[in-house]
Amino acid sequence: MSKIIQVNDLLKTKNDILILGIESSCDDTSAAVINNDNILANVTAGQEVHKIYGGVVPELASRAHQKHIVPVVSRALAEADISAKDLDAIAYTKGPGLLGSLLVGSSFAKSMAQALGIPAIPIHHMKAHVLAHFINSGLPKPPFPFLNLTVSGGHTQIIKVNDPFTFEVLGQTLDDAAGEAFDKSAKVLGLPYPGGPEIDKLAKNGNHERFTFTKPKVDGLNFSFSGLKTNFRNLVERESRRNPDFIKDNLQDLCASIQHTIVEMLMENLVKAADLTGIKHVAIAGGVSANSYLRNSLIETAKTQAWQTYIPPFEYCTDNGAMIAIAGYFEFLKQSQLRPLSDSATARWEM
Ligand code: KG4
Ligand code: ZN
Repeated sequence: MSKIIQVNDLLKTKNDILILGIESSCDDTSAAVINNDNILANVTAGQEVHKIYGGVVPELASRAHQKHIVPVVSRALAEADISAKDLDAIAYTKGPGLLGSLLVGSSFAKSMAQALGIPAIPIHHMKAHVLAHFINSGLPKPPFPFLNLTVSGGHTQIIKVNDPFTFEVLGQTLDDAAGEAFDKSAKVLGLPYPGGPEIDKLAKNGNHERFTFTKPKVDGLNFSFSGLKTNFRNLVERESRRNPDFIKDNLQDLCASIQHTIVEMLMENLVKAADLTGIKHVAIAGGVSANSYLRNSLIETAKTQAWQTYIPPFEYCTDNGAMIAIAGYFEFLKQSQLRPLSDSATARWEM
C-alpha cells in the first residue's frame, strides 16, 4: 500500500495568492476568484438557448460565451471585492471541450493576463473536476492516493489520483458518457435539456425495479452506455405503440429504472477498482455527481466496503470557475507548469 499524503502537506505557503479561474468548455460561462484554497466568488451564467434543441448547439454556445464573459468576470471580481490588478494569475480551461467555447474563455484569459502582466495558466477540465475536492468548503479533503469517479456530460472515468498533478486513468467509457446516458434518456421521455437533473427529480417517487435493462459486458474497468440508450429508446417506442400515454403513465418509474441502471453500472466498476487497488478513499466529481441517487449509493456502498468517501458541494459538481481556480492554484505553486501565451485551446486533451 502506498504512503498516504495529506493535501495540506503540499500547500505550505505563506503567501496570499489570488487567482481568477475561467471556465467555458461547454455551455456554462463561469468565473471564480480564489485566495489560496478559499473561494471568494464563483459566478456562473448558464445558457437557456440550448433547451429547445434538446442538447448543446456549439455555435450558439460560443456566441453566448462571448456575450457572458465580460459581465461574469466583472461580477466575480466585484463579489470577491478585489480589483483585477490584485490578481497573481489567471487560470483558464484549455480543454477538453467544444473548441469554439474554449477559444472564447482562453483568448479572454490570455488577453487579460497579458494586459496585467501576470501568468495565464492552462487547465485540464477533467483534472479540475477532481481537484474541486481541495477547495476549502469545510468538508474533509481526500488524501493521496484516492480513487475518483468523474462523471460528466462528456466523460466517464475512474481515476487513481496520486497527487494534484498525476492522474492514472483506470477505466473510462468506450462510447457515451454517463451524463449523455441521462440526457439522451430524458430526451426520449420528452424532458428538457439537461435531462440529468430532471430524471433525478422525477425518479424520487418512482419504482426502480419496474423496468430492467441489459447491462453490457465490458472489459476491465471500462464502461459502455450506448447500448443502454438504445435499449431504453426501444422499450419506450414499443410500449408507446401499444399505449400512446405510456410515457405519461410511467414517467417516474421509467426515470427511477434508468437512473438505477446507470448508477449501478458506475458503482460496480468503482467497487472493482477499489478491490484491485486496495484504495479505501473514494470520491466522485463532475456534473453527474450532483445526482442524489448516485450520492446515496456511494454512501451506502461505503458502509459495506469500509470506504471513506468524498463528495463535492453541489456548486462545485457541475461546470464552475472555482474548480479551474483551485487547479490554477496548484499549478501556480508548482511554477514549472506556467505556460507561454502561445499555448492554445484544444478540443481533445489526454489526461
Ligand atoms: O460536468 P458538467 O457540468 O459538464 C460537462 O463537463 O459535461 O456535467 C453536465 C452533465 C449533464 O449531462 C447533466 O445532465 C448532468 O451532468 N447532471 C446530472 C445531474 N446534474 C447534472 N445528471 C444526473 N443527475 C443530476 N442531478
Ligand atoms: Zn465538466
